[in-house]
Amino acid sequence: MTDRYAVFGNPVGHSKSPRIHALFAAQTGQDLSYQAVLAVKDGFPAALQAFIAAAGGPAGGANVTLPFKEEAFRLATRRTPRAEAAGAVNTLSFEAGAISGDNTDGAGLVQDLKNNLGCDPAGRRILLLGAGGAARGVILPLLLENPAELVITNRSEEAAARLALEFSRLPGCAVAVKPDASSFPGLAGRAFDLVINATSAGLSGAVLPLPDSIFAPGCVAYEMVYGRQTPFMDQAHAAGARVGDGLGMLVEQAAEAFFVWRGVRPQTAPVLAALKE
Ligand code: ATR
Repeated sequence: MTDRYAVFGNPVGHSKSPRIHALFAAQTGQDLSYQAVLAVKDGFPAALQAFIAAAGGPAGGANVTLPFKEEAFRLATRRTPRAEAAGAVNTLSFEAGAISGDNTDGAGLVQDLKNNLGCDPAGRRILLLGAGGAARGVILPLLLENPAELVITNRSEEAAARLALEFSRLPGCAVAVKPDASSFPGLAGRAFDLVINATSAGLSGAVLPLPDSIFAPGCVAYEMVYGRQTPFMDQAHAAGARVGDGLGMLVEQAAEAFFVWRGVRPQTAPVLAALKE
């Protein structure tokens, strides 16, 4: 029997996940299907239950995208530490009545940095822009890579300060670095080796008030948004940084989910190349 998987979202028609997982399955010889499921605003739990109960093979798991990641967190009957830290779940596994919740987004970013951009976060000075769900999801995985520092900057300064405080008190976690918060004006004169834009500013073409000095020589600038050239990418490129976008993170978080479900790690480079074509 073919194991069934799906991605739930709204909207979800644009999702690249069915294609990515079909390529992973073909590459690794895994017998599975993967579909996109559009859930209505209050209909995510019902859509999930309907998927689990449907005929055609056992339901193995699901990915969850906007706007249901927090709801998936609440629905999960158990959660991994990285899902707890993210406060959101993007990967569900269905096991004998239990629903296990994981979050592979942060691992996806770290893998993309290391595998595809030649940028190991270890020892780097990292600036993280944003304090919403996208930023929160990557903080623990970045801290676990032992950067030299991690500074969080957000338009609403209080939200950045709250996040920094929360992640500087991680009980039972072997994290050596405590994150700091800075305002945008407070970045003047500071320099970083890795600048990650986890704000949604690029989606509206908004310009972030960033001094060029933040991009140290050899800096990598990472835009989590993909599929468009954002003002952040333009500025980073003009300031001499190497620029990456979120397409690699999308493929790597999918590979991590595939590994969680199937115990097999697919190769991501050919899939990333296929998506770029
Ligand atoms: P996501 O889940 O994608 O992180 P979110 O939780 O709505 O979405 O968070 C959006 C982030 O982008 C926030 O950090 C937001 O800053 P505020 O907390 O000050 O709202 C940031 N953001 C969005 N538009 C922005 C803009 N034009 N300039 C600066 N920051 C912006």
